[in-house]
Parts: sequence; structure tokens; C-alpha cells
Amino acid sequence: MSDQVKMTPLNYSEDRPKAKNPVKIMDLSLRDGHQSLFATRGRTEDMIPVAELMDEVGFWAIETWGGATFDTMHRFLNEDPWERLRTLKRYIKKTPFSMLLRAQNLVGYRNYADDLAYAFVDRAAANGMDVFRTFDALNDYRNFETVVKGIKKAGKHFQGCICYTLTEPRLGGEVYNLDYYTDRAKTLEDMGADSVCVKDMAGLMAPYDAYPLIKALKKAVRVPIHLHSHFTSGMSPMTHLKAIEAGVDIIDTCMTPYAYRTSHAAVEPLVMALLGTNRDTGFDIKKLAVINEIFEREVMPKYKHLLDDSKVSIIDINVLLHQTPGGMLSNLVNQLREMDALDKIGEVYKELPRVRKDLGQIPLVTPTSQIVGVQTVNNVLHDTPDERYKMITGQVKDLCYGLYGKTAVPINAELQKKALKGYPRGEEPITCRPAEVLEPELEKAKSEIGDLAVDLDDLILYAQFPVTGKKFLEWKYGKAEPPASVKPISLEEVKKKDEIIKKAKAGKLIEPKPDTPAKTAAVRTFNVFVDNEYFNVEVDATGDVQAVPASRPAAAGPAPAQTAVAAPAQAAAPQPVAPVDGTLLLAPMPGMIIKYEKKAGDVVKKGDPLVVLEAMKMENALVAPCDGTVQGIKFASGDSVAKGAVLCIIS
Ligand code: CO
Repeated sequence: MSDQVKMTPLNYSEDRPKAKNPVKIMDLSLRDGHQSLFATRGRTEDMIPVAELMDEVGFWAIETWGGATFDTMHRFLNEDPWERLRTLKRYIKKTPFSMLLRAQNLVGYRNYADDLAYAFVDRAAANGMDVFRTFDALNDYRNFETVVKGIKKAGKHFQGCICYTLTEPRLGGEVYNLDYYTDRAKTLEDMGADSVCVKDMAGLMAPYDAYPLIKALKKAVRVPIHLHSHFTSGMSPMTHLKAIEAGVDIIDTCMTPYAYRTSHAAVEPLVMALLGTNRDTGFDIKKLAVINEIFEREVMPKYKHLLDDSKVSIIDINVLLHQTPGGMLSNLVNQLREMDALDKIGEVYKELPRVRKDLGQIPLVTPTSQIVGVQTVNNVLHDTPDERYKMITGQVKDLCYGLYGKTAVPINAELQKKALKGYPRGEEPITCRPAEVLEPELEKAKSEIGDLAVDLDDLILYAQFPVTGKKFLEWKYGKAEPPASVKPISLEEVKKKDEIIKKAKAGKLIEPKPDTPAKTAAVRTFNVFVDNEYFNVEVDATGDVQAVPASRPAAAGPAPAQTAVAAPAQAAAPQPVAPVDGTLLLAPMPGMIIKYEKKAGDVVKKGDPLVVLEAMKMENALVAPCDGTVQGIKFASGDSVAKGAVLCIIS
């Protein structure tokens, strides 16, 4: 045992004497916990059963908001994010709330203008937020300036984060070493940080790096030091212990059902480990057990299907090998799976550090992890031996322009030049605070959304998420019917489903065979040869045949955006759309249409931007594959499209 942690006479009772220097704990179950394990799908109604009990534990704070919750709530859960804050505040009255704020990126994926950033912080504070855990993906604290002004004005706690990242397997090297981290901490303290958090989003921090790091930080600054270290690699419980020995003030944990895997270590073992020492949390483990019981019985059945159970192992050693956050790795896997390219994962792992280096060795955290990840996948899928960076995302262009801030080392000059060719803001990158080049955006957002945004909270939501935010406001105010997919499921429904699965597994389920449907006029006959055997097969399309007309080779094979696929001159069978000669622009990946840059009848030149497609939260500008006239636009802003869907035809 280190000199920092001493046993006092053991006393297991709830009213045991208070430790001299208790470790403070922040619970993350209601934000990072479900964001890490259950795709951020936690619903407010499933937090209420434990809310009052959580308030009794004695947490330093409970993380309830921010990060990806704002996005997923309005997009997938039909929940007003602001309402969650107000609702939980009615149940959790004593314990402060904490949120994850992406500095000038707020809770979205790009830098927003100062007026929006200021309004967001002001409204978050007014709706009940207490601790603003603020980070910038590049650790460029010029991106903190506006939100910190807002946090301070509201009289709230400003927690400044240092994103923990490595270029070597362990702490050190030329970029991310002890000096780097202590320098960042001092800068935060000078900015008025009430506490400093080391944010180890990938679980990279090794126990014997945590010890000297926390020691150095405690020496460098006076404010409390907070450690946020994901479990992903399996090191975090050991790292926590060494950080505690080094004198860390606050540790992040989750309740057991939300713990481990890509989330955080559980609180209960830590409580027991420290019991009776001078760093005893003072928590009553029986109270924690009651909360766990409620989660297990009433909440987890609704979420367990979201748990990635593709592997038995709860530790991802890929993180140790590739120094990338677990969330980013699962995004990459999903993205490749959706594109039928999962076999390319090895190439993606190889390409990733190259892309990161080209982009200035940036830390990998939202949104830079998506920026690096999506660009890596683009390179692997679309680059040719004689051309790298064939399809550069809009966000990489923004990064090259300086819109996210200053990178740890300079961006590859050749890539920067290529990315900024024809970039609308200018081909010369900026060096000032990024938000300085952004026009105010609230007024503009107001003029776009009009009365659909009833108050400032609605407007702030729309301004950050124009497409999905507008959809949500239409649901909220009864202008459109929310789809079944956003509705909550009840415990009874889950039980019924589980029983059917149980029966099926036991071989006791006999499903009634569906009636043979009638053939339609569109039925087509194919000759199919398997080895030397011959089959005659009739095929009749079902569902939305408009999305990918069967007469065109739209869905066949991997087709990058720029690939021109000639449509057959005449359709083989009656089709719901009139056949058109021309070159098809196909969706190179599944995603959502942000907007069409052109309308039907517009004349375009090869290379003109045609469609902005959002995939994995990145915007991709798809360009005209040839000269011609735009026709056959089948989708609108907000529509989801499958890979290979015909976005328009150039004829
Ligand atoms: Co986290």
C-alpha cells in the first residue's frame, strides 16, 4: 500500500467515521453509461425509477445530459432534450447535475457561432445544469472562450478537460508527454477552471502513467483533479487505484449494469476497495445494491438487445493496439458492415494512424474520432493506387481550413492543399480562433424555421440539428406523426418477445406460414444457373420499389459516388417510374440526405456539387459524375437512403 492510502480501524457500518480525504465520485450511468453501452438510447422514463435513490448516495455530481444525448433524444427517441433536464431535476434535488459540453461544438458536430454557443450555455444553466464539463477535441482552449464566459456569467461550475491521447503505447514521446498535460492544466486554471478533468475517452491510460500524471497535475494546479477513464481496454480499475494513491480528487464510475465494456468501471468494487482507508468514499453499498436491483429488473430488459454481444470478451484489446476509442471502433465496424465491406477492417486499422498523422496527430474524441474514422473508411473504399484522399469529407476540409482549431502538429501540407481546392471559405487556412470567422446563426435559423420553433430552446435545437431538429419539432407540435421506431417499448412487450424467443429456441414455436401473395404485373423471370444446374425463377419486388428501381443496376456492387452507371435504354418490365437514359448518381453509402444543391432541370458540369449526404454523422458532398441535366430526384432533405439508391440522374 502506498503512503497515500492508509487504513483506519475497520468499521463496516453505514455510520463509519468519515475518511480524512474521501475520493469523490461522479456517476455517469445516465449519460456516458448508456451512451457507451446502449447507443445513447436511454429514455427519461427509465431514469425516473432510480432518480431519488441516486440522489441519496452522496455522489459529487451525476452526469445527466450532453454528449450524444441531445442528438439521439430528438432524433431516435422523440424526446425533448431540455425536458429531460427539467424532469430529472424534480427527482434529483440535492446532487449537482453535470453535462458533457463539446465547447464551441456544443452538443453537435461542428463549431457553432458565438451567439448560438452563448445562448445554449445560458439555456442549459437555466434549465438546471450545474457542472459544465467542457472539452475541445483538439485541446485548443480558444474554443472554450465563449462558453466559459457563459458558464461564469450563470455562476456555474466550469470543469476544463484535457483530452488524453497518445501517439506511443505509453505516456511520452514528442507530442503527448507530461509537459504537454501540465501545460494544458495550467492554461485551464488560468482561464478560471473550477476543476480540471483528464478525459481518457479511449481507456488508454495505464496505471503507472496515471500515478506520475496525477502527481504532476496536483503539483501544477490548485483546483481539484478529476479522472474520466473508460474501461474499454480493461486498465481503468487499476488506473483508478493508482490515481487515488497519487491524490486524484474525483473519479468517474457507473452503476454496475452500465459499467465495463466500453463504459466505465463500476462504483461498487471501488467503494469496497477503499472501505476503511483514508480515501473511503463513505458510500453505503446497500443503497447502491437497491439501485442496481431496480435497474436490472425494470430497466435493463428494455436495453439488453442494444448491447453488443457479438463477442464474449468485455475487453477490447484493439484499443491497446490502435490507441482509438471503443466507440470509434464500433462505428467503423458498423459503417463497414452497412457497406458490406467488413472484410476491410484490417486495412482500416492500418490506414487510421496514417490519416491521423496527416491530420496533425489530433486526439481521437467526438468529433475528431468520426472525422478521422470516416475519412479512413473513405480512403480504404475509394482510393486508388495512384490517388489518395479521393473522397474528402466536408469535415476534413473544415479541419484543414482551421475551423476546428489548431492541431497538435501541422497538417500534411499536400493534403491540406488538396482539401482546400475550391473550398468556399477560401483556399488559405485561418490561424485565428475558429468561431471568429463564423457569422451569427440564431437569426438565420429563426427565419428558416419560423413559428415551428416556439421558444429559444426549440430554436437552439433546430440551429444545431436543422434536418432532424425540424422533424422533431413537427412531431412535438403535432404537425407530423412520429414513426413507430421512435416510440418506447414497455416491459410487457419485452417479456412477450423474450417468451417467443425462448419458445423458438426450444423448438416449440410453429410460425403460421404467410399466405402466398398474388403475382403482380411487374413479375420478372430470370434464368439462374448454379454450377450446371438450371433454375427458372420469378422475382416480384415488394416494399418501396421507388427507392432503388429494379430495372437499373443501382444496388449492384460497390459503386463510389463518382462512378457513372449507364441505365439500360429500356426497362424490362413495367416500372413505377418512367425509365430515363442517363448516368445515375448512386448513394455510395447508407445515410441521410441533408440537401440537394441542384433541382430537376438544372444544367450541371462534371464535378459540380449535387447532393450532401450525411453518413456516420459526417457530411459528404457528392458531385456530378458527368455534364448534363439533373433529373429523377426521388428524395428530399431528411430522407434516409440505402447504399446504391439512385439520388438523381444526369442526362
Ligand atoms: Co466518456
